[in-house]
Amino acid sequence: MNVRISQFKDHVGKEVTIQGWVQGGRSSGKIAFFEIRDGSGFTQAVVAQDSVADDVWQKAVGASQETSVRLTGTVSAHPKKEGVYELQVSSMEVVGTSEEYPIGNKEHGPDFLMNHRHLWLRSKKQWAILRIRDTVERAIMNYMHEQTFVRTDSPIFTPNACEGTTDLFPVPYFDLGEAYLSQSGQLYIEAAIASVGRCYDFGPVFRAEKSVTKRHLTEFWMMDAEAAFVEHDENMNIQEGLVKYIVRACLSECKEEFVILERDTMPLEKLLTLSFERLEYDDAIVRLNELGSDIKHGEDLGNDDEGLLTQHSDVPVFIHKWPKHIKPFYMKIDPENPARVFNNDLIGIEGSGEIIGGSQREDDYDLLLERIKADGLSPEEYEWYLDLRKYGSVPHSGFGIGLERMVRWMSGTEHIRECIPFPRLVNRIKP
Ligand code: 4AD
Ligand code: MG
Repeated sequence: MNVRISQFKDHVGKEVTIQGWVQGGRSSGKIAFFEIRDGSGFTQAVVAQDSVADDVWQKAVGASQETSVRLTGTVSAHPKKEGVYELQVSSMEVVGTSEEYPIGNKEHGPDFLMNHRHLWLRSKKQWAILRIRDTVERAIMNYMHEQTFVRTDSPIFTPNACEGTTDLFPVPYFDLGEAYLSQSGQLYIEAAIASVGRCYDFGPVFRAEKSVTKRHLTEFWMMDAEAAFVEHDENMNIQEGLVKYIVRACLSECKEEFVILERDTMPLEKLLTLSFERLEYDDAIVRLNELGSDIKHGEDLGNDDEGLLTQHSDVPVFIHKWPKHIKPFYMKIDPENPARVFNNDLIGIEGSGEIIGGSQREDDYDLLLERIKADGLSPEEYEWYLDLRKYGSVPHSGFGIGLERMVRWMSGTEHIRECIPFPRLVNRIKP
């Protein structure tokens, strides 16, 4: 019977067949040990020369790294380690050979690994990160569904900018001139809330930012959420709920992955029991200066500032109510302080940096038009967006969470390039 390695616990003492790849192996005298990967997990396969036919033994000693195999044998529970199973092999079939697999056990430099990303994905840590990514994606969708948000996907070809005009990727678009790859679906889902009330999109977005950092991709995945009749504070409540939901899902589903990544899960467990901090931008600047940063009021927070603010924090920190002039045109002005907008960044702990950007949106037609003009954007291009403030405008808010930023934090990975299967960076588009 064909089973997957993750199902071994239900087959102890029984004969099964597994199909996978040889991750590694060694033989000592008359016994060969292999680590086999079948996608669902890893197991040790044991081949004893005395108990198998000679051709099986020959195949076993000849099987090199990444040979694909079909193995039949009996599942046994590891004598000492609970929850660990092995396969006592009785027969073996080679499906595809693998000669001189380039990624060995020795250390490889990042460039070498990135050039071999199509193969590097097979290594244990990359397997673990891919699975955490899957868990984060599912958790996001489950939470949004539970919170009655309707998935309403937005286009990737767009005629206008959402997040400023400097980071756009232009694409020639037939006779209609230039289109741009979407930076965020926000403007479109703002339209859709008048239909479904609360909605979200989830897909790739693009930023032509020349930022070569451990946290920037040129193509990344974002979930944009938008909700009618939700204002600034409730918007942050929804974000806090989402992050906790994702953390809980990872803790319950990714135990094996965390062990492989040697990720200490205590900080994640702890934050579930606490409320996130909410710190106004003005106070964040004061605190940063006290902590030794030379940031000036009115400047954007740098990577170091985000780290400094959260270095001793057990919980993520919302930095909210930023100066209007450093934020996009669509954020709602705080009527009590017109130099500020009702927005927030959410900074994760453990050096993870900005995970979410959100805001209440300007719902007043005249104020929005003024901001569009002040930002040097063309009101004609945004006519449809302005329409939303003409026909039954309502207070509304939303946010965007960067999937790879969240995966990077959850998995404890240093560089974001490992948090997406095939990363697109300023200096890399292959494989
Ligand atoms: O803060 P941002 O730019 O917000 C928006 O785009 C809003 N329109 C979202 C909304 O309100 N619907 O981006 C949102 C998040 C960031 O907090 C960060 O997690 C991630 O997207 N992000 C990036 N991730 C990887 N590489 C980049 N270059 C990123 N830029 C932003
Ligand atoms: Mg942001």
